[in-house]
Amino acid sequence: MGSIITLQLPPAFEFGVATSAFQIEGAWNEDGKSPSIWDTFSQTPGNVRGDVPGNVACDHYHRYPEDIALMKDLGIDTYRLSISWSRLMPDGVGAVNQKGVDFYNRLIDDLLAADIQPNVTLYHWDLPQVLEDRGGWPNRDVADWFGEYSAKSFDLFGDRVHRWATLNEPIALWVGYALGAFAPGLRDEKLGRQAMHNAMLAHGKSVQAFRAANNADSEIGIVLDIWKRQPLTESAEDRALAHEGEDDGFRFFLDALRGGGYSDRLRQRLESTGTFPHIEPGDQQLIETPIDYLGLNVYSRVVVDSTQQKPGAWAESHPQPGGNFLESGSEFYPRAVYEALEMVRDDYGWSGPIFITENGVPDASAATTADPLDDAERITYVAGFLHWISVAIAEGADVRGYYLWSLLDNYEWGAAFTFKYGLVRVDPETQVRTPKKSAGWYAKTIADHKRAI
Ligand code: NOJ
Repeated sequence: MGSIITLQLPPAFEFGVATSAFQIEGAWNEDGKSPSIWDTFSQTPGNVRGDVPGNVACDHYHRYPEDIALMKDLGIDTYRLSISWSRLMPDGVGAVNQKGVDFYNRLIDDLLAADIQPNVTLYHWDLPQVLEDRGGWPNRDVADWFGEYSAKSFDLFGDRVHRWATLNEPIALWVGYALGAFAPGLRDEKLGRQAMHNAMLAHGKSVQAFRAANNADSEIGIVLDIWKRQPLTESAEDRALAHEGEDDGFRFFLDALRGGGYSDRLRQRLESTGTFPHIEPGDQQLIETPIDYLGLNVYSRVVVDSTQQKPGAWAESHPQPGGNFLESGSEFYPRAVYEALEMVRDDYGWSGPIFITENGVPDASAATTADPLDDAERITYVAGFLHWISVAIAEGADVRGYYLWSLLDNYEWGAAFTFKYGLVRVDPETQVRTPKKSAGWYAKTIADHKRAI
């Protein structure tokens, strides 16, 4: 008999895991791959924790058969991965790198042979450095570059990949161009906003290329991270800060994708600082090109406290009495996923298919120091989110699947290897993979669900 959680999920509900190219592949300069902005950034001293670059990551480029075997053991239906643009097209545009094509062909074919459906994200933060040298995301031409790369990917892999995402968490562009904490490490708010707008244009071009490729049996969406803001009190200051945080984050993208343009509230604020992006006629129509599903990454919420946080500062949730805060700094608040689903329905009228494209938690230090395989906290965390997903589905949300972040302990951007999100432990020295307790639990959850249907 299945557990209470899984019995409430619909029979066709899909379970998966998610990764991204830069965080796992390694082989940063092999077989014709050119550097991405994350290669450059992570190799530059002072940018990432311990100055440990992502050159090798989990060496997945060479070890992917072992990783597919690990996925097979989990019993997952689907695997969310991303393509490294600079491995496929080392000049960013133009010629493809046949060895890069071969790698993704092998990966896709082996996944299908293991009965695992690939879900491919085109952009997970690793712009080819050659394109950054031409102005990167703040250059409007990026929309055409991305359109070309997208079309090429659909052409090469679209016969076997039936679920695609254009961009993963485009807010990362703000962190990279305005806050300097991600690649390319710039600190210019005007550039950051322009990069975010141009990313939406690139998304639109990609969806149009997808439709032109005649992928009738396939679907395309975008992946946004939803960190809802909860004002600590009802004070005007707390509420304003909550609005500001959401406007600068997921609402920037959702307003454009769904609401007919950036909100007046956002426009007024950004125009007052001269940071509203340059928009041309036709941009909004391009951005609104219909998508097939919405991908939501949900990890937690942010409790905002105006006495602690300055307007415009990067949102940090301040541990509050009664909150259950994890060591990573975020709150264990599984209802966040229910609230995210409610928000896209109520605020944006989205009633179409949704995938929870990421959800997960880094190991607590108890696991890291005592028994690195005993990640009980991850089990509690994921079970909590699955529960709230099932509640939302019971109330009508069309959630089709769930991707746990992540299969492996991988390269966590600025934190390098210090945040371990994997179901499977990876020793960064030896690359030895060992499933943690949560891997067995996830496999059982999936098996129970399948038995119950
Ligand atoms: C967001 C990103 O998409 C992913 O790359 C990252 O590792 C996880 N969430 C965890 O922070």
